[in-house]
Amino acid sequence: MSKKIEGFSKLSKTEKINWITQMHFEDVQNAKEIISTYNHSNEMVQNIHDEFIENSITNFYFPMGVAPNFLINGKQYTLPMAIEESSVVAAASKSAKFWASRGGFKAQILGTKKIGQVHFLFKGKTELLQSFFKEKKQMLIDSTSSLTANMRQRGGGIFNIKLNDKSDLIEDYYQLHLTFETVDSMGANFINSCLEKIATTLQTLAEEHKPFLNERLSIEVIMSILSNYAPDCLVQAEVRCHVNKLEVTDDMSGMQFAQKFIQASEIAQKEPYRAVTHNKGIMNGIDAVVIATGNDFRAVEAGIHAYAARNGVYSSLSHAFLERDEFVFQLKLPLSLGTVGGLTQLHPMVKWSMELLGNPNAKNLMEIVAVAGLAQNFAALRSLITSGIQKGHMKMHLLNILNQQNATVDQKKKAMQFFNGRTVTFSAVSDFLKSNI
Ligand code: MEV
Repeated sequence: MSKKIEGFSKLSKTEKINWITQMHFEDVQNAKEIISTYNHSNEMVQNIHDEFIENSITNFYFPMGVAPNFLINGKQYTLPMAIEESSVVAAASKSAKFWASRGGFKAQILGTKKIGQVHFLFKGKTELLQSFFKEKKQMLIDSTSSLTANMRQRGGGIFNIKLNDKSDLIEDYYQLHLTFETVDSMGANFINSCLEKIATTLQTLAEEHKPFLNERLSIEVIMSILSNYAPDCLVQAEVRCHVNKLEVTDDMSGMQFAQKFIQASEIAQKEPYRAVTHNKGIMNGIDAVVIATGNDFRAVEAGIHAYAARNGVYSSLSHAFLERDEFVFQLKLPLSLGTVGGLTQLHPMVKWSMELLGNPNAKNLMEIVAVAGLAQNFAALRSLITSGIQKGHMKMHLLNILNQQNATVDQKKKAMQFFNGRTVTFSAVSDFLKSNI
């Protein structure tokens, strides 16, 4: 039977599920049951999904945890974290508690500007294009005035527009490079609407421009789109304390811990294989809060990794060092986030997360998210340079294996006791379950 279908999007949700399960699953009834069992039973929620995406058939769930005791710029927070990975929430909470008794986290915004570009081709002399741009620059910006009116009232809008000659990269290639301030919205729709308007104006003005007409020159717009690379939408999070307050294990002094930690951080700065994993640990915290607050984690990821490679080599986003007797650990990264628009008013759990965080504005949210990344990174390095990472992972790992092997509540209890201090493997758990039926 052909698995091709015309008009799938026009089917009702039930018809879609019927078609998918009949076409793609051996046990049709079981496939349907999985959807209905794990489906958010609230019809209102399912209807909201239909307006988020096309061909929505159900919801995909993720665990949602919270990490309390975050002291950020003197204010107490509990962070919402949507994440499937074992130990991330526990590690965040542990870090939060550790730093709360050492002055807490400090975070500051270093910039909030975002970038959008109109990419186009022009076959004439660069000087001709430059004088055209100089003459029409204001008209290009003014053509967006109805689009930007609300944003300007809130203190945002288009802050700068530049003509970039990129013909050394690709023949005849130029771009308009615009800087935006989008206040509390992530701004993708706003930026893209402005860019598309500017691109149309650019083309129209070029068609009427005498010096171009004389030489039969035109501007060919290739595309207009925001850049998810936002190196000027930057936030820094930091923790610091006297080295003597860093005594985390009995067999290491605070200074020894600090030195080993700094070495680990330096390795991640210089060595890309390590840097990627080091930054992945940071993203464990960042993504969990970004997802819980309904922000675009793909944009955040893409922008952050580009920033990590800004000097030509992929490097760590955080940095540890000693300042006299103080241990300092900092994380600097771009974060383009919104607290209005997008999912923020629509997704019930996003609204819930926002309220949990005290309804932050975009700048506050940038600070909170950066702190989640730093806390996670601290927890990972702390484990790596002391007990190793597996110890902390084992409890959840063991539970995952027990669940995969359908262990009973009683078996789980016994297994937790038995594997305390022992190596957890799939086969070891399997053997244990066989002898503890
Ligand atoms: C695992 O999700 C994250 C870590 O690998 C991060 C790190 O190595 O720094 C533990």
